[in-house]
Amino acid sequence: IGIFDSGVGGLTVVRAIAEKIPGYDMVYFGDTAHTPYGTKSAETVIGYTIRNIEFLLHQGAKIIIIACNTASSVTSARVLEQFAVPIFEVITPAVDHAVEASTNLNIGIMGTRATISSGIYEKKIVENQPTARIHSVACPLLVPLAEEGWLKKRETAMIVKKYLQPLKIRQIDTLILGCTHYPLLKTVIQRKIGQHVALIDSSICISERIKNFLSDNRDIHLQLSQNGHLSLFVSDVTDQFKKIAEMTLKTHISFECVKI
Ligand code: DGL
Repeated sequence: IGIFDSGVGGLTVVRAIAEKIPGYDMVYFGDTAHTPYGTKSAETVIGYTIRNIEFLLHQGAKIIIIACNTASSVTSARVLEQFAVPIFEVITPAVDHAVEASTNLNIGIMGTRATISSGIYEKKIVENQPTARIHSVACPLLVPLAEEGWLKKRETAMIVKKYLQPLKIRQIDTLILGCTHYPLLKTVIQRKIGQHVALIDSSICISERIKNFLSDNRDIHLQLSQNGHLSLFVSDVTDQFKKIAEMTLKTHISFECVKI
């Protein structure tokens, strides 16, 4: 299973897959040389996405997860169809869960600037539930804070509170964490939005989707090696990547730097 993101965020998907369907070999690419994606143009992010997919295919991936809401939101199905393997985005599974979880259909979304301005969540939620009221907020400071490991700092809590204020006023009952970095900040997000709000974690939603896909597609399941091995690649070595990656995966890791 090939998985990529702009940095450490997609490791929340690696963690969720390892918990939900343990044993599958995974290869992860964190594009640390180009993080964050969320402040870049759609054209640039699509270029990175194609290149990352090609790299993972070269590593032997038989299915690929775009563990990045930003890349998922700007890359069209038409671009992904040119590849011969199944490629999964993280938006649709999160939307399906959110619509199911919400009782008042007053749904909040947090994401990067690129994800929010793509309007993809609104579009998919309304397709699923035309009466839903959707409130979205771009949170550009959260990815650098997560990459920096500032998960429990007071300053981070203050910034989260400020971002969530407009969603709180609108009395959402469900909040989509529309960026794979945000599960790293889940505790502070839950505290600031209130315990009554259901948080939709796209890393958990996609792992459930992959589980169902593999049980429905046994031929593909049989193509996947299952030695519980995780290979990690990055495009730039940073101390932070190792620190946050080890915190996320709760194990010692080694990784290889590749210039792709
Ligand atoms: N974790 C990614 C996402 O889900 C990328 C964030 C970024 O690089 O800005 O959007």
